[in-house]
Parts: sequence; C-alpha cells; structure tokens
Amino acid sequence: MKNYNNVHILDHPLIRHKLAIIRDKNTNTKQFREIISELATLMAYESFKDVPTQTITVETPLETTTQTVVKENSIAIVPILRAGLGMVDGILSLFPAAKVGHIGLYRDEETFEPKEYYCKLPVNIEEKVVMVVDPMLATGGSACDAITMLKKRGCKKIKLMSIIGAPEGVTKVAEAHPDVEIYVSTLDRCLNERCYILPGLGDAGDRIFGTK
Ligand code: PRP
Ligand code: URA
Repeated sequence: MKNYNNVHILDHPLIRHKLAIIRDKNTNTKQFREIISELATLMAYESFKDVPTQTITVETPLETTTQTVVKENSIAIVPILRAGLGMVDGILSLFPAAKVGHIGLYRDEETFEPKEYYCKLPVNIEEKVVMVVDPMLATGGSACDAITMLKKRGCKKIKLMSIIGAPEGVTKVAEAHPDVEIYVSTLDRCLNERCYILPGLGDAGDRIFGTK
C-alpha cells in the first residue's frame, strides 16, 4: 500500500495485546465487547491530540494560574451502526461531554455496497470535530458514504477511527477524502472473496452483540 499523509497506524504493545484477544474466535461476547471499548479509549487518547482547547483560570491552593481544557461543545462522535456503537462508551470515558450522532449503514451481502437506513446527527455538528467510528474498515464503502453524508451536512473537520483496516479500505478512504485523518490500530493483509478482512476478527457487529 502507498504511504498516505492522512493515515495513522496507532501501534503500541498494549494495543497489540488487546488485538490478540479480539482476533481469537474463542473470545466470548462479554470480553470482546469490553476490549473493543478499551481499544477505542486507547486510540482516542492518541487521535484527539489536536483536540480544540480553551484557556481557563484555575485557583490552586497556592496561587492563580491558567490551564487549557478541552473546548466546550467541540466534539461529536458518530458510530456507524451497528458495530461502531461498541466504540462509543470507550471514547466517552475520555470526553464525557461529547455529542453522539448515529449513521445506520449495512453492507449488501451480494454487492458489498453500503445501504443507508438511519441518520440522526447532533445540532451544529458542522461546527464540531467529528470522529466517525467503526471497528472494521474493509472495502471502505461504509466509511466513505458516512463521511460524504457528514460533508453534505457541512462538517469540515472529520476524522475516522477503525480498529482494523484492510489496505483496500484504507486506500479508498485516504484517496476519496484526503482531508480526513484516518486512524487504525493495525493494517491487516487483505480482503477475502466475501470482503471480510484477513486475518481480521470475523463479523464485528455479530461478535459485539452476540447475534451469531
Ligand atoms: C460492517 C462493519 C462496517 C462495514 C465495513 O458492518 O461494521 O460498518 O461492515 O465494511 P466496508 O468497509 O466494506 O463497508 P455490517 O455492514 O456488517 O453491519 P453491522 O455493523 O450492522 O453488522
Ligand atoms: N465487516 C466486518 O464486521 N468484518 C469484516 O472483516 C469486514 C466487514
């Protein structure tokens, strides 16, 4: 895969450790869900390094000082349903005041094209930094469509966080949306004939919600 300035691979021993657990087919629903959420927290710490801040005055027990804090009303998290929901609480644990929108997309099982079925976004989302979250970036069709929907709503600062990326999907989003920063914790090998990521972890939505 080519190098893209807007693609960031958030490699860390702790992230690799957690990836090993969720890749394992014997990991149960409870543990899978917990680790997806923990990975989202770890990735958010790094991917929000450029979060908007504001300066406030604080009285310490000794004197008055100034300190920067996360700017009020500056962040929105937008999970792609269903599997993206598994990443929301992990990010909210760091940014409890963030607003949350939802975009519902499912992949057609024959064509692998995303189909939209739901969209509900926070008011004034166009003024916020929007983090689109979905554990799997496979063909990139779902992420591209979600980003296009947000741009049509006027969003200018969009980021994408996926736990596992396939080269095909990362390339597609990086080229279609060079203004969007893309964060993955690992770049897997390729897609199989059913557009599942190899080695991957299987169907993220089914494993988070225990539907198969
Ligand atoms: C999965 C996954 C992504 C999409 C990735 O969702 O959570 O949204 O596939 O594939 P793509 O990059 O090829 O578009 P799915 O459509 O299976 O829906 P679900 O989350 O409801 O299970
Ligand atoms: N969606 C998933 O949940 N897993 C994949 O490997 C590809 C798409």
